[in-house]
Amino acid sequence: MSSILIKNIKQLCGTRTESHLLRGKELAELPCIENAYLIVEDDEIAGYGHMEELEPNGMHRKSVFDASGQTILPAWCDSHTHLVFAGSRENEFVDKLKGLTYAEINARGGGILNSARKLNATSEDELFSLAWKRLEQVSRLGTGAIEIKSGYGLTLEGELKMLRVIKKLKERSKLEIRATFLGAHAYPAEYRENHQGYIDLLVNEMLPVIAREKLADYIDVFCEKGFFSVREMQAICKAGISYGLNPKLHVNQMNSIGGIQEGISLNAISLDHLETMTGEDIDALGRSASIGTLLPTAAFFLRMDFQPARMLIDSGCATALASDYNPGSSPSGNMNFVVALSCIQMKMLPEEAVNAATLNGAYAMQLGDKLGSITIGKKANLIFTKPIPSLAYLPYSFGTNLIDKVMIGGEFIS
Ligand code: NIG
Ligand code: FE
Repeated sequence: MSSILIKNIKQLCGTRTESHLLRGKELAELPCIENAYLIVEDDEIAGYGHMEELEPNGMHRKSVFDASGQTILPAWCDSHTHLVFAGSRENEFVDKLKGLTYAEINARGGGILNSARKLNATSEDELFSLAWKRLEQVSRLGTGAIEIKSGYGLTLEGELKMLRVIKKLKERSKLEIRATFLGAHAYPAEYRENHQGYIDLLVNEMLPVIAREKLADYIDVFCEKGFFSVREMQAICKAGISYGLNPKLHVNQMNSIGGIQEGISLNAISLDHLETMTGEDIDALGRSASIGTLLPTAAFFLRMDFQPARMLIDSGCATALASDYNPGSSPSGNMNFVVALSCIQMKMLPEEAVNAATLNGAYAMQLGDKLGSITIGKKANLIFTKPIPSLAYLPYSFGTNLIDKVMIGGEFIS
């Protein structure tokens, strides 16, 4: 058994004897210990406390790491990404700078369909190596668990290729990875006038193979005007649920069309995006068991109004934060920036943002019993910061890399 003592930690954040999904005022409570120690055995957290409480024989561990001046917090749990994609879309970014809208770019075969064309023309090996590099990059930025969606295939072969890449990432990476089937991301051009034809393909051709090969943990649908209607989302989710895939859904990004209410009746694990929310949407989500996942970097990149985080938190909604890493609306998987933006633009408190990006993010991947807090028995996925005066300095000094080291499963990554 390998055992490491981390001593003299300036501040150890997210220490909890037990953990549960956080709502309302609880979200602002981030328990921390000043001048702390932490013991990691194999890949797990085995103990922690004040330095004065460290038993003398605790010092005689095989390896001792001195974290003087450092803050340690649980690694980010990024519960919504599209990290597997074939190519970037900075040409569309420039078109938008010149005046085209997201909807106009989609209408001319850009956007998701552009990514689908690129993905279908890229080999599984190439896709894997691109995704692997992105995974390494985000893990160096402190992400220790991540959800990854399909949805840039939109053909049987393309969707399976994406999900097989995610499966290989799961097998080879030390990060905790969850896979989501998002075949219902956009209608391919040939199905634009034949929605039922594409839904049949998703339900009768794709889902059975995905279930048989255990390629996905969740099902997702982009419920939006010009994409999938509430009724279409319901049909696709019911089919997914019959195969054991619970929904995590894209709703209320551009329009409020009833996705929240339907998502709640489908017992969605999480309802994600939420840029465009009515008062009724906020109340309904606040009373529900579904997690509300905010993706502020997507709102930032598309120059949209930010998600109503304060109203959601006040309504009792269990709020999580995620990066939405994808080539169209959030070409960055940097959770540090997500946390900063949620404070700067949505007025979340630093403690709320950290909880939403760690523990609640873990619950949004049903990994809350394993990750997201400093709790004995949880996986040792940790961020070690450079010296910072206080936790609030993290979002305050946005854009500065304040991560010194990242530990995943008890080992420092290089
Ligand atoms: O979550 N909104 C739908 N899907 C992605 C963007 C997809 C794309 O533009 O490639 C999102 O923002
Ligand atoms: Fe997304």
